[in-house]
Formats: sequence, structure tokens, C-alpha cells
Amino acid sequence: MSDFLNGKERTCRCAELNKNDENRKVTLMGWVQKRRDFGSLLFIDLRDISGIIQVVFNSENNTELFNKAQDLRNEYCICVEGIVKLRDKNTINSKISTGEIEIIATDLLILSSSDVLPFSIESNQLANENIRLKYRYLDLRREYLAKILTLRHNITKTVREYLNENQFLEIETPMLGKSTPEGARDYLVPSRVNKNCFYALPQSPQLYKQLLMIAGYDRYYQIARCFRDEDLRANRQPEFTQIDIEMSFIDKEEKIMNLMEGMIQRVFKNCANINLKRPFKRMTYKTAMETYGSDKPDLRFGFEIHDYTEVFKDNKEDLFKNKIVRGILLENLAKDFSRKELDKLVNVAKIYKAKGLITFVHDSEGLRSSALKIMTDEEIKKLNVKENSVLLLVSDANDEVVCTSLGAVRLAVADKYNLRDPNKYEITWVVDFPLLEYSEEEKRFVAKHHPFTSPKEEDLIYLDSAPEKIRAKAYDLVINGEEAGGGSIRIYNRELQKKMFNLLGFTDEGIQEQFGFFVNAFNYGTPPHGGLAFGLDRLTMLLAKTDNIKDVIAFPKIQTASDLMSEAPSMVSQKQLDELRLILNTKADDEI
Ligand code: AMO
Repeated sequence: MSDFLNGKERTCRCAELNKNDENRKVTLMGWVQKRRDFGSLLFIDLRDISGIIQVVFNSENNTELFNKAQDLRNEYCICVEGIVKLRDKNTINSKISTGEIEIIATDLLILSSSDVLPFSIESNQLANENIRLKYRYLDLRREYLAKILTLRHNITKTVREYLNENQFLEIETPMLGKSTPEGARDYLVPSRVNKNCFYALPQSPQLYKQLLMIAGYDRYYQIARCFRDEDLRANRQPEFTQIDIEMSFIDKEEKIMNLMEGMIQRVFKNCANINLKRPFKRMTYKTAMETYGSDKPDLRFGFEIHDYTEVFKDNKEDLFKNKIVRGILLENLAKDFSRKELDKLVNVAKIYKAKGLITFVHDSEGLRSSALKIMTDEEIKKLNVKENSVLLLVSDANDEVVCTSLGAVRLAVADKYNLRDPNKYEITWVVDFPLLEYSEEEKRFVAKHHPFTSPKEEDLIYLDSAPEKIRAKAYDLVINGEEAGGGSIRIYNRELQKKMFNLLGFTDEGIQEQFGFFVNAFNYGTPPHGGLAFGLDRLTMLLAKTDNIKDVIAFPKIQTASDLMSEAPSMVSQKQLDELRLILNTKADDEI
């Protein structure tokens, strides 16, 4: 029996050929994307990872070969030998890079046949996503996904090059670690050897990378898989990838932010030929919240939020008394906002806990608003809503509700005008985050970023009196309203780290139990350090201009955190359960 390939070797990939290769004898391997039968001529679109080329079988040249080619069907995997020829002028296909040439086949080897596919690979009409995910290996044959995974590869390649040049060492950290209360829910893995004990999959390599700094590896990076058992959204997966970075001997945010700007600038240039201007913008958390209603401001359009509290400071009506009032002015757009359109925005504001949206419309009939009757003439004058304009106000005692609901309204208005343009990139650092936020649910402070984030030295005076006023040495990189990455300068003083844990409600015993190995390491000469992590999936989404994170991951999970192709997660055998000493609770949720 001969070898599978009958001694044939591929000379190149399909789309590497062009008209300069005229008359070259080539051997190509790939899949039949399409076949067109013209009696004595059979055309095949041959596809490999690089793209497509047309192959011609001519019954007059070689009847035996032509008859063999008649057997070809879509997605057969084949090897074709042939000669590169220029196409006639009138048959040039400008849609594909190899459109000026074709291969006149001289030999054909059918490597594998294919069943009829559950959906078409080349059709513009996309099949239902669940079907495509079930047969993801077929879905991945689509040029669209091949291009994105190639882009993703180029991003990691560029990142590695940049960090290597800057003396960062790539170091792997464990997947099986200790469960620590850091943020999201952990994925747990039962240990067979250590009875009744569990590992946790890393939510991020945070603790390990800080331990590497203590160990003296002063510049670290890792393309790190992270696992978080949290509710999924369009930009979240239960397992995702971070470009995780940490460096020692820094105490200022600017140092690492500058270094990272260089990396992001190079990624945009090398992978998408986009020139980003440096330095990137910097915006405080306070400005981001008050002006854009979000700590991830989308700066591709205006519609900023303004403070109207002053206008209503003497108003004694419940709606305005002791309330913070902010709003968005839509100049010259009154004609676009019917009652129905405004109601849609009211509903958006309500999702974000606003009690409502107070709307003022100034059209040809004058200024209209249900709030006019509880406002003085002077207040109305101060609002200054010019003819053809609309003003949208939210009033509430809780400023976060005011800002976030207006932030959502702002995005809805931008969507109405299609202003979230994926071809435009607006980047900003958001800095000066609060260190802590008060959780009404848990009745305690929780870390806004994570418990290892350093406070700003000048705010340490509030440590005991007003912890909510302390700002953190933290920074997020926001691209087009997405958090592409974030990090901080870390606490490196052991006393302060202990104090921080105490503020978060940990007792000394609790700290030892949960983080003992980590805090103890701080007793052995800790360098000042800081770092950050970028979401590789999110960066790829931004450069690929998709808002579906599944597009940038080879084998993604769906909303229910399951993989439709492998059907993970799945039940396991009783033997496996016994080995792990696990007993399943088969009661329904409402019986527990
Ligand atoms: P953080 O939790 O902000 O920080 O995560 C860093 C970046 O990872 C991306 N990201 C995600 N991407 C896809 N799916 C998810 N479920 C998901 N969660 C987060 C985001 C985010 O900006 N250890 C710190 C970093 C540090 O301080 O150095 C950390 O994990 O783009």
C-alpha cells in the first residue's frame, strides 16, 4: 500500500500564488469549496487556510483525470497537481486575490470524501449559530473566522515580541491553585489524592505574578488562561485569555502606562495598520462617571452629560429637593424624538434604576415637559433649552444612579444615529478609581479593583475616617467603550496589606487561612511593583470589529457555559465520582 499522499508534497498554499507564477508546476492541498460543471470543463474552487484558487479539469486534455474529478463534491479534501495559467481577461475574478490565475489540473488525489454538510461554508446567509457551534470545526473553515484567528495569532506574536524586547520573561503559573475570595465565583476541581479538597482554576494569575516579583523575576508576562464562573455576556466567556504583565521597581502609574501604550500602539500598527497617537488620553474616574456615565466611556461621539443640580437648588418639589440633577442636551435634534422615541429612552433609564427621565422638548409649539408646572420661570430660563432641542434629565439622591442611567441613555442615543462606528478607535486611560466601594448587599467595603491595589499616598489620611474617599493607583485602558485592560500599582508594605484586608472585613485568622502563603511572602523583602492585564479576546474583538466574543475564540462556550460541540459539561461515571468521594445531589433546585 502506498503512503497516504502517494509521494506528493505541497509546494505552497493556494493564495500564495499570483500571476508571476505563470507556468509554474504546483501541488496544492485543500478542500473543495465549490464545483461548477460546464460539460467538458469542470471548475473547482480549492480552499486552504490562505484562501481560494480556481482549478480547471478539461475532458479534452485528460479524460481519465476529468472522470475522476467528476466524483468531487463539496468539502472533499484533495491534492491537485497542475500548471498555473493566466485567465482570459473576461474571466478574471477581482473578488479573490488569485482571481487573475487558475490551475490547469494534471493530477488529482482524493484524500478524503465528505458527507453533505449540515450548513454551507461559503454562503453569505449564515446558518443558525447553535448549528455552527455544534460543528465548530466546519464553522472554522469559514474565511471570516480564519482571518480572525490569524489576527489573534498576530496580536499575541506582536505582544510577545514587544515584551521580549523590553526584557520581560514569559513564565507559566499553575492552573490548579487555591480557592481565594477575589471577585467572581471559582471553577473548582476536586482532588482525588487529597480527600475532600478542591483546587480552583485561576481567575487570573494575580497572586502568582506578585509572588514572582517577590522572587526577583522583575519583569514577567504570560498569555494566561483565566476562568470565572460568572454570568456570560456578549463580551464575556467563562474561560478567556489575558495578556498578563507585572514589573518591579515602579511606584508610579505613568511608568507602566507608558510602556503599555507602546505595546498597544505596535499591536494596532502591525496587526491592523492603524496609527495611534501617543500619549493616549487620561481621564479620571470622576470625570468618566460624571461626563459619560460610565467608567468605560465611549469617546467616539459626544452627547456628554451636564450637571443641572444648581438650576434646581431652591426647588422644594419632591422631584428635585435634595437631589442631584444631571442631563443630556440633544441640540437641534427635536424632530427625531417623537413621544414613542422618548419613551424608549425612559425605559433605558429605568433599567439602570432611575425613577424616570424628565424630558424637555422645544419644538415649533414651544417648550414642552411635564415638569414645567413645578418649575419657576427662572429655572426654566436657566435650563436654556433652545428651539429644536431636547433635554433629558435624571434626578435622584444617588449620584451613581443619575450618572449610570444617563450613561445608558447616551449609548442608546448614539445607537439611534449609528455612532458606535467600529472603524473609528477612541482610546483613553481611566485613572484615579476609588479604592473601595460599599456593598449594600454585604454591608461592607469591597475592593473596586482587587485587594492588592495600592491606595494613593496622599489619600491615606482617610484610611480610618472615610475609606470611601481613598483613590487607588489603578488604571484601566478603555477602547471604544470596552475595558480592554486594567491593573494597578500594588500594595507592597505588609502592614498596609493587612490593613486593607481588615477594611475588607477579613479577620487576622481569615487572612492567614485564605491568603497566608501570599502575605507571608511579604516578610521577605518585597520590591515595589505593579502590573496589569489586557483581555486578549477583547483586544481581538476590537481589531476584528466584532461585538461577539465567540468570533475570536476557536472553541467558545454559549450562554449556559456549555460547549455545544463536545457537550461539556457532562455527567461522569459513578467510578469517577467514587474515586473523588463525591455524592451528587439530584434534588431539583427548588427542593434544596
Ligand atoms: P480584570 O479582572 O480587570 O483584572 O481582568 C483584566 C481584563 O481581562 C478581560 N476580562 C475578560 N474577558 C473575557 N471574558 C471575561 N469573563 C473577562 N473578565 C475579564 C478584560 C479585563 O480588562 N489580575 C487583574 C489584572 C491586574 O491587576 O494586573 C485582573 O484580572 O479585558
